[in-house]
Amino acid sequence: MDKLSCYLLLLLSFFCFRLDLSWSLETRFNRAPNNQGSSDLANLVYHMGPVLSSPIKLYIIWYGNWNSTHQATIRDFLNSFSSPALSPSVADWWKTVRLYTDQTGSNITDSLSLSGEFFDSRLSNGVRLNRLSMQHIIKNAVTSKPSPLPLDPRNGLYLVLTSSDVQVDEFCRAVCGFHYFSFPSIVGATVPYAWIGYSGTQCPGVCAYPFARPLGAPPPSAMGGNDIMRPPNGDAGVDGMVSVIAHELAESSSNPLVNAWYAGDNPIAPGEIADMCLGLYGSGGGGGYVGKVSTDAGGNGYNVNGVKGRRFLVQWVWDPVKKRCFGPNAMD
Ligand SMILES: *[C@@H]1O[C@H](CO)[C@@H](O)[C@H](O)[C@H]1NC(C)=O
Ligand SMILES: *[C@@H]1O[C@H](CO)[C@@H](O)[C@H](O)[C@H]1NC(C)=O
Repeated sequence: MDKLSCYLLLLLSFFCFRLDLSWSLETRFNRAPNNQGSSDLANLVYHMGPVLSSPIKLYIIWYGNWNSTHQATIRDFLNSFSSPALSPSVADWWKTVRLYTDQTGSNITDSLSLSGEFFDSRLSNGVRLNRLSMQHIIKNAVTSKPSPLPLDPRNGLYLVLTSSDVQVDEFCRAVCGFHYFSFPSIVGATVPYAWIGYSGTQCPGVCAYPFARPLGAPPPSAMGGNDIMRPPNGDAGVDGMVSVIAHELAESSSNPLVNAWYAGDNPIAPGEIADMCLGLYGSGGGGGYVGKVSTDAGGNGYNVNGVKGRRFLVQWVWDPVKKRCFGPNAMD
C-alpha cells in the first residue's frame, strides 16, 4: 500500500563534476521528497505486526511481453541482495533495511534469493489491471499446470512485474509500484506481494526518474545540453524500475501486512521506510537535489554495485538508528 507516489519530479539544473553528478529536482506537490536531517515527518512507529525475518524467497511473475535484456537486468539486481560485490553494493544497501525488527527483536533477514519465475505472457487477466487483479494473477501463477510457482506463505514474496503493453490503475499518475498481501479466499494463503510496472514507454519521466525528463519539464536545450542522467544498464525504463523494486522490497519487508513499520495514523496511506526518502540517492540531497552519485566510464549514473559487474541506481531508505535517510554511498 505504500504508494511509491510519483511526485512529479522537475529537473531544475544540472552540474557535472569529475565523478559526481549533481541533480536538482522539485516535487510537484509542496512536500519535500525526503527527510534528510529532519525528524518532523519521520514519525515512524512500529505497530506490532511482523517483519520478514525468515529468509525471503522471491518469485517473479513476468506479466505480459517482456524484453529478455530487461529481464536479465532485473534478475541480476535481485541476485545481488545476498551476494558479495564491490562496495558500495546492493547487499550493503540492504543493511539499512535490516535494522528494522519485530516485537521479538528479530531483524529483517539478510537472505533474499530469486527462487522461481512464472511467465504470464498470455495475459491471464487482460491488459487493464487494478489492485485486485494482482491477487488473481498470483492465484493463476501458483495453480497453473504444468509448472506453477509454489504457494509459500512462510518465505515467499511475490513480484508481479508488468510489461510496457499493460495498463494498471493509477500507474503513471499516482503510483509506480505498490505492495500488499494476498487474501486466502483468492490465492489460498496470505503472502506478501509487490507490483511494479515497466514505465519505459508509458511514463519514464514519472517512474524512471532521474533517467528521464518529467512531462512538462523544459527541453534539454533550454538547460544547456544533456540534462538527463544516463541509465547504468542501458534502458531508462528498466533502470528506473530497479529502484522502484528496491523501494517495494524494503517496504514489503518492514511492513508486509501493513501493520508493522510506518509513519502517520492512516494505515491506508502509510508513510513507509522508502516513501520517506523518495528522490534521494546520495549525500547532500534534499531541498531539490538528489545527492552525490557516481558515474561509470561511459558517463552513466549509479550508486551501488551488484553481481557480474552490474551497477544500479537505488534510492535511499530511512535509517531508524541514524534517524535520517541513508545509503551505502553516503559520505558521512
Ligand atoms: C538489528 O536491529 C537492531 C535495531 O535497529 C540493530 O541495532 C542491529 O544492528 C540489527 N542487526 C543487524 C544484524 O542488522
Ligand atoms: C530490448 O531492450 C534493449 C535495451 O533497451 C533494446 O536494445 C532491444 O532492442 C530490445 N529488444 C526487443 C526485442 O525489443
